[in-house]
Amino acid sequence: MVVILISIVGSGRVGASIAFLCVSNGLDDVLLVNTTKEKALGESLDVASAIPANSKFSIRGTDNYSELVGSDIVVIAASVGIYTKHRTENIPHQVAMIKDIAEKIKEYCPSAIVLLVSNPLDVLTYYFQKTSGFSRFKVIGIASSLDTSRFRYYISEMLSVPQSSISNAIVLGEHGDSMVPIFSGVSVGGNPLFSMIDSRDALTDNVRNYWRTLRNFKSRSQFGIAKNTYDVIDAISNKKEISIPASIVLDGEYGEHDVAMGIPVKINQNGVIEIQQVKLDDTEFSSLKKSSQKIRNDIESVR
Ligand code: 2OP
Repeated sequence: MVVILISIVGSGRVGASIAFLCVSNGLDDVLLVNTTKEKALGESLDVASAIPANSKFSIRGTDNYSELVGSDIVVIAASVGIYTKHRTENIPHQVAMIKDIAEKIKEYCPSAIVLLVSNPLDVLTYYFQKTSGFSRFKVIGIASSLDTSRFRYYISEMLSVPQSSISNAIVLGEHGDSMVPIFSGVSVGGNPLFSMIDSRDALTDNVRNYWRTLRNFKSRSQFGIAKNTYDVIDAISNKKEISIPASIVLDGEYGEHDVAMGIPVKINQNGVIEIQQVKLDDTEFSSLKKSSQKIRNDIESVR
């Protein structure tokens, strides 16, 4: 049996929830890393009580990055502060943090596939890849699949239909205010979504502002990103393929260079194995251009 080590850097709500899903589903060994050792130990002890009796795997916590040695998958869910209005608020500190983490991961587990969930997602994916020098196919920002879950949810709510009747709903671009829900391919019960709505505006606003709406009631989101990240870990670890939108550094795809943003990809145990092209109408194409420019401006702001 090949034992896989899944390390999760940052054991706040999101990191701990991802660990919980991995452990309770009997996935693989999990290491929780946190600069506050007690936080890592406390969360790992809590999650350890969810290890199924028939599991071969365990979880431990540490503040020592050298324990990352041998990690096959590293999830980065760390953050240095809370933002309130925009995901880019703490950008200089978050970028400094990600560069530091990238150096450590390069030192201790240079063959790992890295999944980023910290914000600003696309900017951090970009700087992690550039700092580490890892293949761009092994540095994957997980967020557009979360935005896609939210798009599906709101279509389902607006039209009072089950999510299972919705096909080809996908969100691309920035994990931020310029994200682009792709309406033109969506069908509901086999009929085009466009035949059921008057405009894209309400759904687009709702999806872009989902996290703000949620924060009116709860301090931060945790379960949606945890599940979407877990699904990718499961695919990598169980040698399955998964097709989702995710952020990677682009080299000509969708007409973009030297920027990371959410595009449709296929992932397996080797990382991203295919970049998929979806059809966009003119509105979507120009919104995606604006979105990549927004990310590029953010990248340049901390160069
Ligand atoms: C989310 O979209 C805040 O990025 C986080 O829930």
